Amino acid sequence: MLKSRITEMLGIQYPIIQGGMAWLGLAELVAAVSNAGGLGIIGSVTFPTPEELRNEIRRTRKLTDKPFGVNITLLPAMRQLPNDGFVQVVVEEGVPVVETTAGRPEKYVDTLKRANVKVMHKVGSVRHAKNAEKIGCDAVIAVGFEGGGHPLMDDVSLWNLVPRMVDEVAIPVIAAGGTTDHRQMIAALALGAEAVLMGTVFMAAKESVAHPKFKQALINATECDTVLIQRSIKNQTRVLRNRTAEEVLNMESRGASLEELMPIIGGQRGKKALMLGEVDEGTMTCGQGVGLIKNELTVKEVIDGMVKEAETLLKRLNSLNRSQ
Ligand SMILES: Cc1cc2nc3c(=O)[nH]c(=O)nc-3n(C[C@H](O)[C@H](O)[C@H](O)COP(=O)(O)O)c2cc1C
Repeated sequence: MLKSRITEMLGIQYPIIQGGMAWLGLAELVAAVSNAGGLGIIGSVTFPTPEELRNEIRRTRKLTDKPFGVNITLLPAMRQLPNDGFVQVVVEEGVPVVETTAGRPEKYVDTLKRANVKVMHKVGSVRHAKNAEKIGCDAVIAVGFEGGGHPLMDDVSLWNLVPRMVDEVAIPVIAAGGTTDHRQMIAALALGAEAVLMGTVFMAAKESVAHPKFKQALINATECDTVLIQRSIKNQTRVLRNRTAEEVLNMESRGASLEELMPIIGGQRGKKALMLGEVDEGTMTCGQGVGLIKNELTVKEVIDGMVKEAETLLKRLNSLNRSQ
């Protein structure tokens, strides 16, 4: 049950993927997701050099014999990333799948495909999905407005983005953004998605290296406790609502420049919030699905729970059909 073109393509048990996450997408979390039947993805942006990414891939291999992937972030604002070297390491290490995001993957698609690496590209619009298909990507990841990370500036909810994309491309569509539980997974599959990709729910998991105080802030948060910042600099990101996020919004509303914003939105302050538990001291991305996180669970508990409850939900939906 719960088989799709994505589970077949990736050789995984369930249509559940952990999106690449800066600082958090490390071997322990990634392997836990893959061991639980999903696909874990290492976040390459965490590593200053390709050799450090290679070490993480090897560390992950020691923890799981299941497939896992690597995220390559192509954000123009992160031009300094050694992405050419990351891609080379992915190929040399035989990683079976890459998640590209936030830019143009054209440069790498041929190299990756020649090496038999599946390419899943994250997009926030139908036009970008069509382009990804045209250049040879194997799947697209539709990122809805409610999601953590960088939802595109189009502000389209996953509820509308997935069916539109499914109608426009032939390659499989994966739904990302604001997904935390089995109900949303089944809804995404009903919309035509062939897997869900989640970040925030795994950020709060036991295997995540986020500070316990940050995880508690996620557990305390409701669906109203995220906010979109960096819209004024066209690099919109959804973050946990906190003191720094409010400060950024105030600065943006009075027209602050990128130079003024950088010291506040820069990664080092976000890292302080996430890794040192100084929750108000920086901005940290997180999706609206945070409202459904109630406890710190292991990855296996998250995935087993989703799958088991999805089966019950499907039975209920089936019984609705019979009663008509
Ligand atoms: C803490 C955190 C860090 C992230 N870092 C990256 C990243 O480096 N590259 C990337 O493509 N996406 C990144 N994302 C986005 C996720 O891969 C995924 O698309 C998103 O979290 C899905 O939305 P959700 O958080 O609402 O489930 C990050 C998300 C979180 C929560």
